[in-house]
Amino acid sequence: MTEIESKIDEKEQKILHGIPMWPQEKINRFRETLLSWYDIEKRDLPWRKNNDPYRIWVSEIMLQQTRVDTVIPYYLNFMNNFPTIEALANAHEDVLLKAWEGLGYYSRVRNMQKAAQQIMEDYDGEMPKDPKEISKLKGIGPYTTGAIASMAFGLPEPAVDGNVMRVLSRLFEIDADIAKPGNRKIFEAIMRELIDPYKPGDFNQAFMDLGSSICTPKNYHPELSPVKEFNQSYQNGTWDKYPVKSKKKKAKPVYYVGAIIKNAEGAFLLEKRPENGLLANMWTFPLIEEESVTHEAEIKKGTLTGVTDENKTEQVIKNVMAELEAKYAVKPTLMEQPFDEVQHIFSHLKWFVAVYYGQVVKEEESMFIPENCYWVHPSDFDHYTFPGPQTKMWQSYLSKFNHN
Ligand code: ADE
Repeated sequence: MTEIESKIDEKEQKILHGIPMWPQEKINRFRETLLSWYDIEKRDLPWRKNNDPYRIWVSEIMLQQTRVDTVIPYYLNFMNNFPTIEALANAHEDVLLKAWEGLGYYSRVRNMQKAAQQIMEDYDGEMPKDPKEISKLKGIGPYTTGAIASMAFGLPEPAVDGNVMRVLSRLFEIDADIAKPGNRKIFEAIMRELIDPYKPGDFNQAFMDLGSSICTPKNYHPELSPVKEFNQSYQNGTWDKYPVKSKKKKAKPVYYVGAIIKNAEGAFLLEKRPENGLLANMWTFPLIEEESVTHEAEIKKGTLTGVTDENKTEQVIKNVMAELEAKYAVKPTLMEQPFDEVQHIFSHLKWFVAVYYGQVVKEEESMFIPENCYWVHPSDFDHYTFPGPQTKMWQSYLSKFNHN
């Protein structure tokens, strides 16, 4: 390239949100290099078998916050149970939640069903093709819109999630904080320039694969990347500074007593959670929210002052017994100490559940439980959707008592 040509090139260089974009020739070479790598290395995943928008949609929702290897069996089972948008729209909520049990973030599947119903009503049961229409569907944000539009309909739409932002940060030495939702538009603008117009779905997925296999958050080896010659942070030796990502706020602690109560028939008391809010309509052992000051976790941390362990245990037992009687109409004989503490992190909350075990001996003592509660034999647990903390309580019970 002559001096004059290079100046023209510099003048024509696009600047996107302060980030200099590559010249077209470099973009073309990058596309070719990345797509050739993807053609050879792409994983054989069940949702990559065809371009059906429904299959792609389900996989993308499951893959939010969940790893590929975990998703695969759930995905296959879900597609078996709900093979079409219509089947999803008409599914009974209990069956739907059961199919999602263990994946967490249950609003994902509740929203997916609402969107399926929207598609049945407004789009004749077919996923709309226009990204603007796709993004109107419940639970479908810009990332999922881009994934469906590019993979199912071949449209050059970016699908930018945390992984893609990490890869781009390193490629272009971008200082924008990837934890700030407002910065996504910077990465989308770059991706709109980079994306291969002929193979946008493959291009987006190549970024995802690169982000999960080589351009990982930890143990990153930029020298192994198929696009290392394009990687500015590698070329400039700054790669360990990217991405810039501020820490999330710590989850707020909430303390519970979980009461595992068995009756004379060997059935356990389960309660259905309210139809709105966290873990709506799912089933747990009675959970009694505690003042943190009386909680076991506080004792362990040594943050309780002025109360001895014995006082405190008595206090907890009293509270729990009173609550079990008032709310559940049971008076079990309760172990004096919790046999375990299980913990579970939701996006913004961290539950600490001190788990107690108790028994109701006489038949008539288990007859007046409230409407949203059942005595359920463990052989029937399969019919009830258990959220994470419930599964942990039950697993702990089984391991400690080794019977059911
Ligand atoms: N993560 C999110 N979407 C993905 C996809 N389509 N393939 C692989 N990993 C993904």
